[in-house]
Amino acid sequence: MTQTRQRFPAPAKLNLFLHVTGRRPDGYHLLQTAFQLIDRCDYLDIGVSADGGIQRDNDVPGVPAESDLVLRAARLLQQASGSRLGAHIHLQKNLPMGGGLGGGSSDAASTLIALNHLWQTGLNRKELMTLGLQLGADVPFFIFGRNAFAEGIGEELQELSTPDRWFVVIEPGVHVPTPAIFSAKELTRNSKSVRIADFSSSTEVQWKNDLQTVACALFPEVDEAIQWLSQFGNAKMTGSGACVFCAFSDESDADEVIRQISGRWTSWKAKALNCHPMANLLQS
Ligand code: C5P
Repeated sequence: MTQTRQRFPAPAKLNLFLHVTGRRPDGYHLLQTAFQLIDRCDYLDIGVSADGGIQRDNDVPGVPAESDLVLRAARLLQQASGSRLGAHIHLQKNLPMGGGLGGGSSDAASTLIALNHLWQTGLNRKELMTLGLQLGADVPFFIFGRNAFAEGIGEELQELSTPDRWFVVIEPGVHVPTPAIFSAKELTRNSKSVRIADFSSSTEVQWKNDLQTVACALFPEVDEAIQWLSQFGNAKMTGSGACVFCAFSDESDADEVIRQISGRWTSWKAKALNCHPMANLLQS
């Protein structure tokens, strides 16, 4: 029998800057980035079952069940914890795939946090972050629970304080495959290392996303959205794209930009979050 379902959010992130500082022997890239949580979310409705089965209850276009990070996360936790319980999961996808918003990684992180709570498996934050890293480089950040300055491949995290503000995000209408951007021969991989204090104490204008030039060359739609949004401020791509964003201190300014986009692209406004909406479910 499946218990009553509970709903859990999986918030998106923006990369306020992203520098590629090197490459590891296994091909993964060394990065420095600032991760910002925002209040645009996917949602997971999860019911616990006693039979140990793990299944997704709905089809998600473009995400076959075998490669779904949500199911992989649930199975990984089941294996690691030895839990005999199972789960029925419904995934409401609001975040675009290939958007650079961390949707798949956040879904996986929220699955780990939610099932750790529902199955009472008792893993702490650090243990869940270690499991999450097996699923993707961005997953530990979403379990960390705070905005963060990240290094390594994205898993070495330090809490970062960021202003309360609003973001306008444009979906340029293309899906950018992350591996294609990282493997491009034109990608520069030698940004000089910075310190968290350098980022915190300066204006963000000079902080770039090193993946942006490559993504714009391969996907002119991304470039076009950045050019347009730049008339309102420091517009940038998040992650490996395709989404682009611009920050506003006043909500009404963000609303006005959304009004001007009117139908040209899918776009939305999001609020900066200080912490992950499920942070209270984790023991540090
Ligand atoms: O870890 P994740 O599955 O999200 O990464 C997708 C792909 O992006 C990797 O297979 C790799 O090609 C590339 N990547 C990278 N360096 C990183 C993160 C991702 O090269 N730090």
